[in-house]
Amino acid sequence: MRHPTLSHSSTPRRVFDPLLRLSHWVVALSIVALIATSQLADSFEHGPYEQFVWNLHIVIGYTLTAGLLTRLLWGVAGPASARWRDLWHPAVWKDSLRKMRLPAAHRPGHDPIASLAYLFAYGVMALMVVTGLGLAASEFQTGPLAGWLGGMPWLEDVLEGPHEFGFGLMLGFVGLHLAALVFHQWRGERVAQSMVTGKQYFNVEREVQHD
Ligand code: HEM
Repeated sequence: MRHPTLSHSSTPRRVFDPLLRLSHWVVALSIVALIATSQLADSFEHGPYEQFVWNLHIVIGYTLTAGLLTRLLWGVAGPASARWRDLWHPAVWKDSLRKMRLPAAHRPGHDPIASLAYLFAYGVMALMVVTGLGLAASEFQTGPLAGWLGGMPWLEDVLEGPHEFGFGLMLGFVGLHLAALVFHQWRGERVAQSMVTGKQYFNVEREVQHD
């Protein structure tokens, strides 16, 4: 099968729809704000602003939950490039592992190798949302689970560990994701802009064989 290569110049294709891009930025900005508020609240420990900043953290957590649910549904009901199928490439993963190198060609839609990291990131986000809502209920008696878990203070000790572990994994993903985008930019491939404009650029004259 012939696949076009991603390139710096050449033909743009409209690939990522507006709702996919919107959910990306709701998720990305929520995560940046959640990292910032968690660190800020820790540094304000026992101070007059601690409670306020944790409340802010919880409200931003609801925004992440909404972004994540939207993305989850869009992965089922959205166009081809938004479907979960577009993030699922076991044949490419196996082939890359066997040859110990990244695929040379690129297809319209999500990068097949990066998709592995995205699926992992969505798993971590789900863990963060579940443990975060549990912590909001058991530690602060607030949020949608407060009626059910509000009277279980011991739950805080159970959920704190996984929430902090997930935080570390999320930092790792964000670092890797940004480094990969800078790497593509440095190689002259206009990848990063596709989550803003929705367009991907392909060098149609230099199409390569990819099996
Ligand atoms: C810092 C927080 C960020 C997080 C947590 C994040 C998370 C993600 C996730 C989960 C996906 C998969 C999207 C999907 O489900 O369709 C994705 C894809 C993508 N992100 Fe981000 N992102 C962040 C920042 C950025 C920034 C700053 C840019 C560049 C402007 C960017 C550009 C992209 C692009 C171009 C893709 C699609 C790449 C491809 O597979 O071809 N992201 N990001």
